Amino acid sequence: MGQASRPAGTSARGVSPAGKQMANGRVSLVGAGPGDPDLWTVRAVDRLRDADLVLYDALVDAEALRRTTSAPCFCVGKRAGRASVKQDTINRLMIRAARRGKHVVRLKGGDPFVFGRGAEEALALGRAGVPCEVVPGVTSAVAAPALAGIPVTHRGLASAFLVLAGHAGEPLERVLAAIQPGGLTLVVMMGLGIRETLGAALIARGWSRDLPAAVLCAVSTPEAWTWTGRLGDLAEATPPEGLPGVIVVGEVIQVRDALSAAATGSGAATDEVKYGRNR
Ligand SMILES: C[S@@+](CC[C@H](N)C(=O)[O-])C[C@H]1O[C@@H](n2cnc3c(N)ncnc32)[C@H](O)[C@@H]1O
Repeated sequence: MGQASRPAGTSARGVSPAGKQMANGRVSLVGAGPGDPDLWTVRAVDRLRDADLVLYDALVDAEALRRTTSAPCFCVGKRAGRASVKQDTINRLMIRAARRGKHVVRLKGGDPFVFGRGAEEALALGRAGVPCEVVPGVTSAVAAPALAGIPVTHRGLASAFLVLAGHAGEPLERVLAAIQPGGLTLVVMMGLGIRETLGAALIARGWSRDLPAAVLCAVSTPEAWTWTGRLGDLAEATPPEGLPGVIVVGEVIQVRDALSAAATGSGAATDEVKYGRNR
């Protein structure tokens, strides 16, 4: 039987789930998209303007943040040469400020619930009786390919896409074992370091070494870097050190060329993309 409940983000302001009175503090877990502040949502900007304290991840544009909010902003993510603040510490900072009546914005890259530990933070806040809402963001899993001209689905080429964490070790193997080559786009996040192993693992499982592949780094930022090639050549992609990036594998990558040809008027339009599977 179903269960009726108040959706996340609509908990009564200032009242903990246990009914204990709080000092009107709350936390907004906000997605900041892949990097460019133009991709912040209207709701994200609204929450930033209302914030008393902002704790943000390393990929967030600090300049844009300063223009948007007058609240004190602290980077708690990994920055050049410096380790990120421990998760427990971030949780404690949020809880303490909310208990003092502050509106805390926890600004996270992409979408807070896509490999972003957002749910862990929401659960910690819930356990502490701190009201919390989630403001979804534009995930790089879809935005990085899109901004590089690659749709994650395209009629006739891919009717599904799978987002994987590349650092996951054994779970990654299990996911790869569960899927068949063809008709599917793979988007691998946090996987730049395993690109060679990933290519080899897919080829060993019957994926064609000629299948298009792409490595898309720091998309939507001034450091954006793109490589496109074939699955069998993935090891040859040498992205600059330290940039976040996704690996995309699938026939949809050929849409990129068709789109740029269409944009320059020099060739095939999108409809003329050569359909094919797992070449
Ligand atoms: C910890 S995960 C967080 C993902 C995030 N929650 C999201 O929805 O995009 C970090 C990974 O996201 C990807 N990523 C984040 N920003 C990116 C960007 N601008 N371009 C390409 N990949 C990006 C990379 O795979 C990176 O290793």
